[in-house]
Amino acid sequence: MKRSFALVDVLLVLALLCDRPWAASARGSSHSHCKGGDSGEIRPHSVTITEFGAVGDGVTLNTKAFQNAIFYLNSFADKGGAKLFVPAGRWLTGSFRLISHLTLWLDKDAVILGSQNSDDWPIIDPLPSYGRGRELPGGRHQSLIYGHNLTDVIIAGDNGTIDGQGSIWWNWFHNKTLNYTRPHLVEFIHSNAVLISDLTFLNSPFWTIHPAYCSQVTVQNVTILAPLESPNTDGIDPDSSENVCIEDCYISTGDDVIAIKSGWDEYGISYARPSTKIIIHRLIGETRSAGIAIGSEMSGGISEVHAENIQFFNCTTGIRIKTSPGRGGYVRNIFVSNMTLTDVNVAIRFTSHYGEHPDQFFDPSALPVIERITIKDVVGENIKFAGLLEGLEGDNFVNICLSNITFKVTSKSPWNCSYIQGYSDLVSPEICKPLKKRIYPEHHSDCYHLSNHLWSSNNQRKETQQPIA
Ligand SMILES: *[C@@H]1O[C@H](CO)[C@@H](O)[C@H](O)[C@H]1NC(C)=O
Ligand SMILES: *[C@@H]1O[C@H](CO)[C@@H](O)[C@H](O)[C@H]1NC(C)=O
Ligand SMILES: *[C@@H]1O[C@H](CO)[C@@H](O)[C@H](O)[C@H]1NC(C)=O
Ligand SMILES: *[C@@H]1O[C@H](CO)[C@@H](O)[C@H](O)[C@H]1NC(C)=O
Ligand SMILES: *[C@@H]1O[C@H](CO)[C@@H](O)[C@H](O)[C@H]1NC(C)=O
Ligand SMILES: *[C@@H]1O[C@H](CO)[C@@H](O)[C@H](O)[C@H]1NC(C)=O
Ligand SMILES: *[C@@H]1O[C@H](CO)[C@@H](O)[C@H](O)[C@H]1NC(C)=O
Ligand SMILES: *[C@@H]1O[C@H](CO)[C@@H](O)[C@H](O)[C@H]1NC(C)=O
Ligand SMILES: *[C@@H]1O[C@H](CO)[C@@H](O)[C@H](O)[C@H]1NC(C)=O
Repeated sequence: MKRSFALVDVLLVLALLCDRPWAASARGSSHSHCKGGDSGEIRPHSVTITEFGAVGDGVTLNTKAFQNAIFYLNSFADKGGAKLFVPAGRWLTGSFRLISHLTLWLDKDAVILGSQNSDDWPIIDPLPSYGRGRELPGGRHQSLIYGHNLTDVIIAGDNGTIDGQGSIWWNWFHNKTLNYTRPHLVEFIHSNAVLISDLTFLNSPFWTIHPAYCSQVTVQNVTILAPLESPNTDGIDPDSSENVCIEDCYISTGDDVIAIKSGWDEYGISYARPSTKIIIHRLIGETRSAGIAIGSEMSGGISEVHAENIQFFNCTTGIRIKTSPGRGGYVRNIFVSNMTLTDVNVAIRFTSHYGEHPDQFFDPSALPVIERITIKDVVGENIKFAGLLEGLEGDNFVNICLSNITFKVTSKSPWNCSYIQGYSDLVSPEICKPLKKRIYPEHHSDCYHLSNHLWSSNNQRKETQQPIA
């Protein structure tokens, strides 16, 4: 019986991975798990940024050229869309807005450079799920490349570069002369069918790629780099978004490689937009912070995160869940497998008193629900702590399942677990007491993805499936 059950599970995993609801057309790579459209999609109209007066000398400000080109291309949106080609050169610009049915295509030697004048980054409203800017009350600077209410947008190229020149923003942050929250390098809000591929992103002022309230977002085959000591330069932050697929990326930044979020305290609770169906595949990362962070802003809920074939090195933390009383929300149905950690301080960390509240109006009795977290098939070399797993008193984190994990650790007390409950099999060094009960045979149905939970999530997904326009 157990054997046939496992086979059913495997088939369901295949069904989940192959039957993406937003499958537009498969990319060349036959083992891609993202089917977010094809960056080589034919757009019937194409223009080059130089036709709009742009100068690629690294000095001339080209914001108007980008804005005019995109304004012109808007007339092709209902005629199959258009492509804006950025040739070799160094194209300095302030923030500009994209439109639907657009491909922004960078040549191999094209570099889009972010202006170092903060006036070139206009102020926009805070996100309703945050209630204010993340670092300062009030508005925030608009990202260098910005999309709002869009569908069918591609940013791609032959490994061209988008460089935020963020060092000036990091200085303003350090010397406390910012007036508004720093901008992202790329942000999409309320958008769907977004593909970002085959590019290098450098030196973001703040989080690098930030989809918020989006669906069907694919980030594929990109390199994201920022100095390890640069402040808050997260790689990719899916925020209150669903069906996000991140694949074949190399990310080395000053803050979390991937951070999955869904709004902040009372603002996130009332906006109630979760992040769900987040797939992460074949990721290599390095950071002073976490490889994959969930939270700390998680008040709209985070679920169905599948991360596989991951390598993190030289990180402070491998996998980290961050929350606090006041956040509310939930983190559930998280599955991480086949991960290699090298030179990592804490392999797995749950932080339950992260703090950082938007204002004094949060409700300290709004406790998060953290459950069904499965981490399996992990090896770690030169790890200090295997797991610092801290739940909340009176609000245990439950059904935490760790399977087939081998860490070479340097600390004499590699596990420290409090207010958590769960199961384990084949974990070395010897696991902490709250997780000592075996997963197999009788507890595997309590463990996400080691059970038949996929069956119900797969069915729910089918009911909400919508064809894309
Ligand atoms: C986005 O769409 C919403 C709802 O239709 C509208 O209220 C808002 O003004 C739009 N924003 C932008 C920037 O297009
Ligand atoms: C990844 O991007 C590079 C260019 O940056 C391209 O040459 C290569 O074909 C891409 N790989 C895949 C699998 O698409
Ligand atoms: C793209 O460029 C970056 C930065 O120069 C480099 O590290 C990376 O290997 C390149 N990627 C591909 C696929 O060529
Ligand atoms: C803060 O940093 C900016 C950017 O480097 C610099 O122009 C400014 O003079 C600094 N201000 C103070 C008060 O240190
Ligand atoms: C903040 O505002 C002051 C006063 O308007 C201005 O001089 C300064 O340049 C602004 N700082 C940034 C980083 O934009
Ligand atoms: C595990 O991930 C590595 C890449 O980190 C990959 O080479 C390997 O094929 C994966 N193993 C399985 C069983 O998928
Ligand atoms: C690890 O990070 C440190 C900075 O904290 C850096 O100096 C070092 O080169 C990194 N090591 C590796 C192997 O990349
Ligand atoms: C344990 O995980 C390793 C990878 O970390 C994998 O190669 C191995 O097959 C797994 N063993 C079992 C029994 O699943
Ligand atoms: C273990 O965790 C508890 C509660 O989080 C903390 O008070 C204690 O200092 C930790 N011990 C070690 C050795 O880290």
